[in-house]
Amino acid sequence: MNNRRSFMKKSAALGLGAFGINSLFNELHAADFQNAERFWDPGSETNDDYWATIQEAYTASKSDVIILNNGGVSPSPLVVQEALEKYNRQAAQGPSYYMWRIMDKGREPLRQRLAAMGGCDPEEIAINRNATEALNTVIFGLPLQKGDEVIGMKYDYPNMMNAWRQRQLRDGIVYKQLSFDFPIENDAQIVKAYEDAITPQTKIIHVTHVVNWVGQIMPVKKISQMAHKKGIEVIVDGAHSFGLIDFKISDLECDYFGTSLHKFLSAPVGSGMMWVKKDKIAKIWPLVCNHEPTSADIRKFETLGTRSFCIEQAIGEAINFQEGIGTKRKQERIHYLKKYWAEKAQQIPGVKIHTSLKPEYSCAIAGVSVDGLKPGELDSKFFNDFKIHTTPVSYEGVHCVRVTPHVYTKISDLDKLVGALEKISKKA
Ligand SMILES: Cc1ncc(COP(=O)(O)O)c(C=O)c1O
Repeated sequence: MNNRRSFMKKSAALGLGAFGINSLFNELHAADFQNAERFWDPGSETNDDYWATIQEAYTASKSDVIILNNGGVSPSPLVVQEALEKYNRQAAQGPSYYMWRIMDKGREPLRQRLAAMGGCDPEEIAINRNATEALNTVIFGLPLQKGDEVIGMKYDYPNMMNAWRQRQLRDGIVYKQLSFDFPIENDAQIVKAYEDAITPQTKIIHVTHVVNWVGQIMPVKKISQMAHKKGIEVIVDGAHSFGLIDFKISDLECDYFGTSLHKFLSAPVGSGMMWVKKDKIAKIWPLVCNHEPTSADIRKFETLGTRSFCIEQAIGEAINFQEGIGTKRKQERIHYLKKYWAEKAQQIPGVKIHTSLKPEYSCAIAGVSVDGLKPGELDSKFFNDFKIHTTPVSYEGVHCVRVTPHVYTKISDLDKLVGALEKISKKA
């Protein structure tokens, strides 16, 4: 018996996780997934039969519009949609009882599952609504003084750059932003840029794990190691990495990590998570007040007022679905999909790819442009003429359309994208 099957058997026996007796995933998908597993050929690059099962599990694969902006927010597979509906219907019977007394009990087991996925202690995980909330909690919660320096880059996410600018205005910290000419296939060059910007006043380095504008994967671990040698803490924006790239948060050797779960994990919209290294929790002020703001209990970041516990609880089925596939397999597939269309596209005269296609430097996201067309024009042509939904990027010297497939994306849809690029570039 291979490892995966023995895992399924073990977890089913324990009644835990994806194939556990209580999971909706087990009811809806376990048989199909186990069946698909029989078609898995480790020697095959495509494994089309296996992926057809995964595509079937997403209603988005049947959408009239080809969705290629999964980096913005991802659809949930049917099992997650159904779980959310089930919890919503239950809560509607009386949220003060069903949500606050019954579903509330699900938070601790969920914390454990997220921690297992992140390879960290559950006491370091707080569940919230998105990466913005997670990272703003850290940015505004850090006890920084006037003159303390923070190093980020121009290609961090606007909500985080604005949070740092607000601290600059309010508290007089110094916020420095590096600039990079992506794609860069050289980790040492990136680490050196951060290192060169350090002064005796530097307290924090803020790094985006996967850069949303063009998909560059940043060498987070190497930056953390360099920073720690100098007593500097590292905050990681993992909005695009968690659930997509096969890593453990502990591998990054950072101090703080925030992510959205409604991106590559495909959890319901409005779900996120923050991780704070155990010995740093006490010093971070909660963004939303708590009766013990200096406590070392990670739960102090969860006093977020009345919110949907239904969304939170449905995260469990997204984890089940993820485990049903396996993160490594998912990463490799999505990288394959990106390479599939981007390698064909870069052969077309007048078409340029703005992202490295090597797996160490990018995964799902790639930027594309057509000579003579502005990003907004290309994005509109994709949609108006081909019903392909992407997103335009025109920011700080980066001008492209961002294309992001997901596990449910069909090869035939990527062929349509390449065909569209051929037609558009001929007319441009
Ligand atoms: C790199 C990065 N960080 C953070 C965010 C914010 O995510 P959310 O809107 O879910 O808070 C995004 C959103 O696209 C992002 O690309």
